[in-house]
Amino acid sequence: MTILNILHYPDPRLRKKALPVSQVDETVKRLVEDMFETMYQAPGIGLAATQADIQKRIIVIDISEHKNEPLCFINPEIIRRDGVEEMEEGCLSVPGIYERVERAEQVIVRALDREGESFDMQVSGLLSACIQHEMDHLEGKLFVDYLSELKRQRIRKKMDKLRQKMM
Ligand code: NI
Repeated sequence: MTILNILHYPDPRLRKKALPVSQVDETVKRLVEDMFETMYQAPGIGLAATQADIQKRIIVIDISEHKNEPLCFINPEIIRRDGVEEMEEGCLSVPGIYERVERAEQVIVRALDREGESFDMQVSGLLSACIQHEMDHLEGKLFVDYLSELKRQRIRKKMDKLRQKMM
């Protein structure tokens, strides 16, 4: 298994749009394994392929306390959304930043699982927010896009400092 390199905001590659997966073949399955490995190691509760500079519509999530409930969504689509809820979000591509974002409270998502089987899942709360957050990545969108320009400027400065520290 491979730990993938996670891009950090404001890397322009995070703005690329992901393409649908045409077939859940061995390459895709291996990528899903690597994405889980990368997410668990980070550690994080969600990861989109876009964050690893891979333009495929794949997200992985595990919000469970013991990190034993892996969820994989390939070509995810939201087929229904209800209500509004604001929650604090973070992102492996924007380390150390947590801000409140408003999203649909409950959604029904349709996707393929890691075996290529189609499924529908109704979710709410944290999992709902997480799926919407990760699906945004596939469109080249980040949670900081929902914040004011002033806040984004502050975040970019923090990211600059972090980058200098890492170099
Ligand atoms: Ni994220």
